[in-house]
Amino acid sequence: MQTDRDESLAALNWLIQAGADEAIGDSPRDRMAPPPPAPPPAPAETAPRVSAVPAGDGALISNDAALASAQSLARAAATLDDLRAALTTFDGCPLKQTAMNLVFADGNPQAKVMVIGEGPGAEEDRQGLPFVGVSGQLLDRMLACIGLDRTTAYITNLLFWRPPGNRSPTPSEIAACLPFVERHIELVDPNYLLFVGGISAKTLLGRREGILKLRGHWAHYQHVGLTRPIPAMASLHPAYLLRQPAQKRLAWRDLLALKAAIRSGKDPLLAS
Ligand code: URA
Repeated sequence: MQTDRDESLAALNWLIQAGADEAIGDSPRDRMAPPPPAPPPAPAETAPRVSAVPAGDGALISNDAALASAQSLARAAATLDDLRAALTTFDGCPLKQTAMNLVFADGNPQAKVMVIGEGPGAEEDRQGLPFVGVSGQLLDRMLACIGLDRTTAYITNLLFWRPPGNRSPTPSEIAACLPFVERHIELVDPNYLLFVGGISAKTLLGRREGILKLRGHWAHYQHVGLTRPIPAMASLHPAYLLRQPAQKRLAWRDLLALKAAIRSGKDPLLAS
């Protein structure tokens, strides 16, 4: 017992000599003790993990909630003005947080042809209008070749906000915009659709092939709210054509097919 006391006093003295002369906790703690056993593993998750996107007020909303909100807002829009207003209140697409402006549409909503691109770039974001940058200028020239302009065509995108740095949109960003695009098509109810670029063609036609496979063929765009399927032509994006000018001949063929369909006034997939 005496030895224990002497050893404790010697240890205390050693600590004091070492400068540890102040208590920092109410009770002693054995820092040399082995760590406590690890807690048992958490039970397996039963629900799938959902990622979340920031809401306008900084809170997070799940992708499922974003989709549900997009569907109900889009469905409730009875006019194009309603649809645009619905997009201004929608906080389920994270692209809205980084974009300067909503880019809704340009052109004539009564037009027979509705053009759907991918998403706004820097100039479109600045002006709040689709296809007004360099690729938009090429699109205008392409449409002019078949006698169309912004009074005889209606132009929009699959995404209503610019992806930062013009990166490719993520599947959840596309999914958040899609109910609005589907309602957009229903409200405009064009005779013909022109999808420019692989992302809009694949998404709206529900196909997996690349644009070089999809382009040049008529397909029917179908959706529950439509009274009939709408003939759709997929073609090359003007931004791609600026990088690969030799491919303009393919886009030219697609535009001629669209021109012939407009002239005939028929659905090229039904016309005999
Ligand atoms: N590219 C697009 O797909 N859309 C625009 O509005 C501009 C460039």
